[in-house]
Amino acid sequence: MDFNHINTYINQLQDDFIRNGLMSDEFLDFMNENKLPMDQFFSYYRCAIMEIETKFNVLNEQFSLRYDRNPIESIKTRIKSMDSLIRKVRDKNIPLTLEAIEENIYDIAGVRVVCSFIDDIYTLADSLLSQDDIKLIRRKDYIKNPKSGGYRSLHLIVEVPIFLQNEKRHMKVEVQLRTIAMDFWASLEHKLRYKKNIPEAELKAISEDLIDCANQSSKLDERMMEIHNHILSLERTQ
Ligand code: GTP
Ligand code: MG
Repeated sequence: MDFNHINTYINQLQDDFIRNGLMSDEFLDFMNENKLPMDQFFSYYRCAIMEIETKFNVLNEQFSLRYDRNPIESIKTRIKSMDSLIRKVRDKNIPLTLEAIEENIYDIAGVRVVCSFIDDIYTLADSLLSQDDIKLIRRKDYIKNPKSGGYRSLHLIVEVPIFLQNEKRHMKVEVQLRTIAMDFWASLEHKLRYKKNIPEAELKAISEDLIDCANQSSKLDERMMEIHNHILSLERTQ
């Protein structure tokens, strides 16, 4: 059996396990007892996403008034699917309670902010983090320290309050900030990574190619930023 076959086999075992796990009495009981709390749980995360998205839209608006340009190209949001949430709870051995899931899983709510230039990423991140209702839980700078596969982005796990009828809750949101070039690379790499049945030898060559593409696109990002800064300095001297 080559490596790919072993992987396929393991995935099959995992799928079977999830299927059996999903059918288990423990899981069915959990779902039945928690139907309303589960709906509420996901709704809180949707509210948290709205709060964070609004904060970025406000920053974009202010930036465009002040500097006459938008630092944000696009914002994408997503709630983690039930399937991948269950996988993560299982893989990380987290107890099957909503409290434990809320405490230990940081990426149930995700906001991806695609920026024009590298500098914009840090400016926006600093502005967000300086807001007094935002608490930073974790920061991973994969731009200064790219992943070995070539992945680049700035990741923040933040806590944001949501105000409900009678209470205030602090919800965790994963914010990924990246440039258009980083987003382009990550989207394609993500698609390729899930392609099955690529022979082992090919896989190595493709990975190296992807790392090379990541390095080239990072250089492009820096050049574009330099051009932009140059234009800005020309404008200032006029
Ligand atoms: P997870 O358990 O996978 O969420 O890992 P983690 O909590 O250590 O988070 P990490 O900082 O590795 O980033 C997780 C998220 O970043 C993923 O869900 C992807 O959206 C993105 N990401 C991280 N690494 C890569 C990568 O190599 N390629 C692509 N395309 N996306 C990545
Ligand atoms: Mg994740």
